[in-house]
Amino acid sequence: RRLAAFHGRHQSGVLGDPLPAATIVAFDLATSTRPDLEELLRTLTTTLRALTTGGVAADPGITTTAGTGLLGPDGPTHALESVVALGHRVFTDTFGLAGAKPRRLRAMDTFPNDQLDPAWCGGDVLITLQAHDRDVVTNALREVCRATRGSMQIRWKQDGFTSAPRPTGHPRNLLGFKDGIAGPDPRDDKQMGSLVWADGGEPAWAAGGSYYVMRRIRMLVEFWDRVSTSEQERMFGRRKDTGAPLTGGGEGSTPDYGNDPNGSAIPLDSHIRMANPRTPATAASQFLRRSYSYDAGVDSVGNLDMGLMFGAFNADLDRQFVAVQKRLADEPLVDYITPVGGGYFFALPGVRNTKDFYGSTLL
Ligand code: HEM
Repeated sequence: RRLAAFHGRHQSGVLGDPLPAATIVAFDLATSTRPDLEELLRTLTTTLRALTTGGVAADPGITTTAGTGLLGPDGPTHALESVVALGHRVFTDTFGLAGAKPRRLRAMDTFPNDQLDPAWCGGDVLITLQAHDRDVVTNALREVCRATRGSMQIRWKQDGFTSAPRPTGHPRNLLGFKDGIAGPDPRDDKQMGSLVWADGGEPAWAAGGSYYVMRRIRMLVEFWDRVSTSEQERMFGRRKDTGAPLTGGGEGSTPDYGNDPNGSAIPLDSHIRMANPRTPATAASQFLRRSYSYDAGVDSVGNLDMGLMFGAFNADLDRQFVAVQKRLADEPLVDYITPVGGGYFFALPGVRNTKDFYGSTLL
């Protein structure tokens, strides 16, 4: 178990591995003045700081469980991690922030294979909470809602899950494949500097932040479960059992496209080869993936309603996520997955110390 440090140049929730229990919640602002926005961001800071560091959120005097929180005085040792991000509509004249917008931030693009439901799209504030225990996440969300009532309202919410990394490697998504293998290493400051943290082209306040893409992608699992393993493997370009690239080696091996120019081992239209052909020109389009499985029950015709909350942190939205998503257009996997929601957000720089708050450089 790790206890997340709350303070730093970056939000710690960006850097940590996905934890088993998560919730991803988009809120709409109910405030329209800059002082109210600042108060909201200060409240979010004190609430999440307390919850992340094992304390309880300040009691606004409306419950009888003052000072103990929903989990009681003997609650678990908290290992809550959070990411707070803003949507493009915050950067308007209403708040005097039109000139401060991260230059790529906008409403999420609609891509060719999308079937977006507006009720599952957008939002002004995106908060991702994750912990080892589901009750810690649920409690934290209720504390956030209680503290910010009147300032913002939930627009959509999806709980997510994964399993903790094991000696056998990365956890699997709901198509049964190990997920989150390739990409920049969060412990490598150089890679994070060029691929994850907003770069010099952005307004100065944004330094230390990151474009946060969230996509709710439904998986047609009944259909997928009738496909042979070898065909599934050719769609991804990796083995289902070990996660190794189909050119050989183990989970951590690099796909060997040089010795497979025609795609006889890893098909040219496989997910990993289209997403990252590993040419010098496409190296700069890699980003940090942070995804969770979701299970939303059963749809109206009795099919399992489940999929992936695909998360990605990018230094430059267009150079990275958008370029990769365009490369993936019409990949064979599109018959088995359907993006139904999500949004583009900007994960704020970290809160530096006990006096600092989310967005202090912006306001
Ligand atoms: C790799 C699954 C959506 C970008 C992978 C891998 C799997 C996978 C199994 C190989 C293991 C790994 O390296 O993590 C899925 C599923 C998706 C999905 C099930 C949807 C339900 C997306 C989307 C994007 C994306 C929307 C970006 C637009 C990538 C990238 C890699 C990757 C960049 C690494 C390629 C490499 O560097 O070798 N994905 N993915 N994926 N995926 Fe996805």
